[in-house]
Amino acid sequence: MEKADNPSDLSKGVTKKFFIKTWGCQMNVYDSTRMHDVLESNGYMRTDQIEEADLVLLNTCHIREKAAEKVYSSLGRIRKLKRNRADSNRPLTIGVTGCVAQAEGKEIIRRESAVDLVVGPQNYHCLPDIVERSRKHGPQIDTEYSVEEKFERLPLLASHNQFKRRSITAFLTVQEGCDKFCTFCVVPYTRGPEFSRPRNQILEEASALVDVGVKEITLLGQNVNAWHGKDANGGEIGLGGLLNELAMIKGIRRLRYVTSHPLDMDKSLINAHRDLESLMPYLHLPIQSGSNRILKAMNRKHTVQDYLSIVDQLRIARPDLVLSSDFIVGFPGETDRDFQDTLEIVQQICYSQAFSFKYSRRPGTPGSDMENQVDEGVKSERLERLQSLLKKQQLSFNTDCIGKVIDILLEKSGRDANQLIGKSPWLQSVIVDSKIGSIGDLISVKVTGATLNSLHAELS
Ligand code: SAH
Ligand code: SF4
Ligand code: F3S
Repeated sequence: MEKADNPSDLSKGVTKKFFIKTWGCQMNVYDSTRMHDVLESNGYMRTDQIEEADLVLLNTCHIREKAAEKVYSSLGRIRKLKRNRADSNRPLTIGVTGCVAQAEGKEIIRRESAVDLVVGPQNYHCLPDIVERSRKHGPQIDTEYSVEEKFERLPLLASHNQFKRRSITAFLTVQEGCDKFCTFCVVPYTRGPEFSRPRNQILEEASALVDVGVKEITLLGQNVNAWHGKDANGGEIGLGGLLNELAMIKGIRRLRYVTSHPLDMDKSLINAHRDLESLMPYLHLPIQSGSNRILKAMNRKHTVQDYLSIVDQLRIARPDLVLSSDFIVGFPGETDRDFQDTLEIVQQICYSQAFSFKYSRRPGTPGSDMENQVDEGVKSERLERLQSLLKKQQLSFNTDCIGKVIDILLEKSGRDANQLIGKSPWLQSVIVDSKIGSIGDLISVKVTGATLNSLHAELS
């Protein structure tokens, strides 16, 4: 498609508008921003009103059955919108992107014929072309794995030209895909093999983000700590080395990374936690289960003891580091004893927060074919017990902050007009009076109150 210099250069002199709905992990949030960039640099404008849109994209998640099914109920509603617009001069184009698109491909169009395009996560650079093709030639499907091209060809920060600020914090994908094949997980199939973006591309993107006002960058990857690449002299580096380089970019006040696999937590990354002040003392390090038997069945390739040893090393390197995790309850074969082991590991580690899910059978993964599936009722009961323990730990972590002086980065306005919300180094939301600073400030505050989901603080 010809690149339009100006949105109004598009056919018939009318600016086309797009609407994106995003489900799933941070990677999808990041991808939606990049789709925004590629569409905007091809003359489209974003709208938050679905009724105004000429193009509706559903950026989907396939991780659990519920997430995937949401797409079809949404499509049912959007189909009606499309039907109402059929005879107008503004037909509606509907696209499904993300992990459901990759996993189900043309099955989506078979189930929902209103869909015009299905685009997998690694083809977003082709999006404007695909939209045009679907308008001319009918439904289009593109689910090739072309991750390298995606990052080379996606334009960055289209909105930069219009001096629009992104936000104070931004995601930056450095790694995509997964070669680990945990037996419960669809990611290796939806995101394809592991790929690390080249260092230069990452440093350039980070600098561009700083130029538009970003102060905190969270590096993303399905296995972010499997990132590897070459430094300026051609030497091999891992995520620790990359973080060292990013920490030198003036203007980056805070760095984070997510999600890490215990097996890829190497010495240089642990040392980065010791050496880099801007690397926040918070680590999301999923263990999934506290039972070695279940970890083996999950093909996690680490034991509970491996995990504990990594946590010890991290805490020596950075004593104020806190941890979060993901847990799956009711994986096939999980007994009461195995579940008890999970509760014990939670007691032992003490998480500042964590995510927990009932095992969901995913078609095509080895776990879904295992015979010893756990009863739904048992799963629900275990999830409740685990979540109540995790909540207790989260509340006690927050309460322990009362009276402490901490640094917060002010990120956005609060629910009340006179409030601002900042983030603590440990990713807690901190509510303060708006008079004490402006969005983007990194300030010291004294914590005065705590609830399960936030802290209150005042100028120290
Ligand atoms: N790469 C990360 C996880 C990515 S998926 C890791 O290795 O930890 C995010 C989380 O979704 C997982 O940590 C897991 O807890 C959960 N999850 C993945 N597949 C699931 C399934 N089939 N059922 C329930 N939860 C699942
Ligand atoms: Fe999924 Fe396992 Fe890969 Fe994480 S490491 S994305 S859980 S297969
Ligand atoms: Fe979901 Fe795909 Fe992320 S399956 S969790 S959107 S990688």
